[in-house]
Amino acid sequence: MRIVSSAPGKVILSGEHAVVYGEPAIVAAVQMRTRVFVKEGRKESKARQHNNLIESVLSVISEQAPGVKTDKIVIEVETTLPIGSGLGSSASLAASIVGGISAYFHLGWDREKINDVTYLAEKMVHGNPSGVDNTAVVYGGLLRFERGMQGEANILQNLTVHKILQKIWLIDSGKPEETTGEMVGQVREQYIKNPVVMTDYFARIGSISRTLQYDLEHDKFSPDWIGENERLLEQLGVVGERAKKIIADIEKLGGYAKVCGAGGVKSGSGVLLAYHPDDAKFEQWLRSRGYTYFQDHIGGEGWRIDA
Ligand code: PMV
Repeated sequence: MRIVSSAPGKVILSGEHAVVYGEPAIVAAVQMRTRVFVKEGRKESKARQHNNLIESVLSVISEQAPGVKTDKIVIEVETTLPIGSGLGSSASLAASIVGGISAYFHLGWDREKINDVTYLAEKMVHGNPSGVDNTAVVYGGLLRFERGMQGEANILQNLTVHKILQKIWLIDSGKPEETTGEMVGQVREQYIKNPVVMTDYFARIGSISRTLQYDLEHDKFSPDWIGENERLLEQLGVVGERAKKIIADIEKLGGYAKVCGAGGVKSGSGVLLAYHPDDAKFEQWLRSRGYTYFQDHIGGEGWRIDA
């Protein structure tokens, strides 16, 4: 028997980092996906690049379903997502494995359980994730996500994908040297030093997410939230010099851009989300600069069994 299970990547439109502290995030699944093949075989997986993550996910699954013999299967991985660049590659891989193993061993896990187990795997890899990544890749579409604080349940709301979001560009500012867990840890240090100032930044990011949700629900779109959100991410200390320079150049050209994920300061800051009113002019500019970019359709389908 062979199971093919897949999950999309994700892009955070607004709310990264603040979402860890209970503020709402607006997040969308993208079309780029990770696909895993679960089949019988010896354990040496061909997916060496992903071995640590696969091991972590399998150990969480074994805790949840002790009867499952994960040493009797082979997991192969195919992905079109850039790895470790803020597009949810790890959550997408984890969800594909969790859902694929549930199908292979007939565990009968529903989407909610697959999301919960994927979250536990994310926790093992990243330390203190909010749950936004796993939720976005398991459920898909465009969502508002709010982490339940002090044991409360997370809030999840489906939003309709506004057509203007198809004009969003994703631009690679370079792979971050830091992991998501390290960036979340750096923000935590700032928060411990300056709780009042940092709480204010988080609240301002949360209010950008709320306004964006309102606008999307009322068929309105003004790109100003992108720049406002970026300035706050810079205040949180998660944007490196290289990304700041690209963003400043985009703004000079009449566009808008922000980091969309954990960010990074030592070298690259991962994928940037950008908008420009003139797609043709902007694409020409991106090409002339030699950037790697995509215009992926926002609102991809969540986790699914492909075969
Ligand atoms: O792993 P990334 O780069 O997609 O970032 C996840 C979003 C954060 O808000 C930075 C962390 C979290 O757990 O919400």
